[in-house]
Amino acid sequence: MKRIICRDAGEVSEIAAAMIAEQIFRNRESVIGLATGSTPEGLYGKLREMYENGDLDFSGVRTFNLDEYYPIRKSNDQSYDCFMRDKLFSHINVKMENIHIPNGECSDPAEECIAYEQMIAEAGGVDIQVLGIGLNGHIGFNEPERELRMDTHPTELTASTIEANSRFFSSIDEVPTKALTMGMGTIMRARSIILLITGAHKAAIAKKIFSGVVTTEVPASFLNLHPNTTVLLDEAAASEL
Ligand code: GLP
Repeated sequence: MKRIICRDAGEVSEIAAAMIAEQIFRNRESVIGLATGSTPEGLYGKLREMYENGDLDFSGVRTFNLDEYYPIRKSNDQSYDCFMRDKLFSHINVKMENIHIPNGECSDPAEECIAYEQMIAEAGGVDIQVLGIGLNGHIGFNEPERELRMDTHPTELTASTIEANSRFFSSIDEVPTKALTMGMGTIMRARSIILLITGAHKAAIAKKIFSGVVTTEVPASFLNLHPNTTVLLDEAAASEL
């Protein structure tokens, strides 16, 4: 894993946006894997700016999001569908038919996940995958467990993630307890990965992923085995390295 320590979250966003832009310049039909959470919001702001300034064209780009709560209505303002429209998609010229997010409204989650994995394969795989990280080391919604799943799958959220994500909902009881997520294999098959880690509260988990140990207890530690992963940290998140 390549590590870049940035001055602050703004610089993390700038470098990540430049890496995505470079991929789109290389191939205007790139497949970009996207993440939700508060960490990539700054990155999406930069990408919007680049589009508005006429520096970036998303008309050929295809996107696949990492995960979605289950069950959840797309109209729920806490759905990742809504988040992505609000923070990025409705501000750039990506084509609606090129946007993919696991469907939190589906009636058969197992079938939805198989179809999602197949769509990624049919698109030729992910060129560049953006990741944030949970406080417990989860990526997407691959939570710490004795065994991790390879492909896109339905999953249960841990109490720690429900607690961490409750800040976005009016009460903890409203946080869905399940999700649909790309698996560890789906993520590891991406040709390149950018992991964004910002804030002092992420310093302990950042230290763990650079400890030289790979364990299912810290799903993000598997990124150590990926040939082309860049971890962008701000100084606060890197303070224990
Ligand atoms: C959620 C998402 C993850 C994200 C994590 C961290 O649980 N499923 O993809 O990385 O939150 O969120 P934040 O960036 O707000 O700390």
